[in-house]
Amino acid sequence: MSSLNITIRSAQVQDVEAIYDLMLPFMQDKTLIERNQDDIFEHLQEFIVSLKDDEIVGVSALHIYDSNLAEIRSLVVSPKAQRMSIGHKLVKACEEVGTQLGVTRMFALTYVDKFFLEQGYEIVAKESLPQKVWTVCVHCPKFSHCDEIAVVKSLEELSMA
Ligand SMILES: CC(C)(COP(=O)(O)OP(=O)(O)OC[C@H]1O[C@@H](n2cnc3c(N)ncnc32)[C@H](O)[C@@H]1OP(=O)(O)O)[C@@H](O)C(=O)NCCC(=O)NCCS
Repeated sequence: MSSLNITIRSAQVQDVEAIYDLMLPFMQDKTLIERNQDDIFEHLQEFIVSLKDDEIVGVSALHIYDSNLAEIRSLVVSPKAQRMSIGHKLVKACEEVGTQLGVTRMFALTYVDKFFLEQGYEIVAKESLPQKVWTVCVHCPKFSHCDEIAVVKSLEELSMA
């Protein structure tokens, strides 16, 4: 599949509405944790977007907890642009930013473990993640019966490459 028209870049303030619109259906079906536009503005430096023919069709965010842990959050690709490697590109972009910033380990909480496993992530017990990871999750209606899968990848090999 051609990726000639696909670009990846940091999000800008004028992207916020499109980011929100892209995430909305996946927040409504509980695939993604709820975020409003104010929250996206406040964390805009964490966001990476993907454009296809100048339209935002993908988004991801990298949230850093400490030197040893960062989370890939709010990852979504528009249904009309899925299966074109955009999701892989967004994960790679998050890993590159994490590596540049000196973070050594990435994780995600996901329902699409296959997507992450094929990118070098491993499934771990959710309980192995530190307590502070769950501060956002307490606002999730599924908090008491979370069925997401925790996946983790070491970035140390990337930083030595
Ligand atoms: C998961 C998601 C980001 C993948 O984006 P994408 O651009 O379609 O992914 P890519 O094209 O880079 O990779 C495709 C590969 O990933 C895997 N994959 C993608 N979506 C998958 C899914 N829903 N279930 C299982 N595997 C999936 C498959 O191996 C697929 O390869 P295939 O097409 O040969 O089967 C996208 O499906 C999405 O936005 N889903 C809804 C929101 C979501 O679940 N976000 C993840 C939160 S952590």
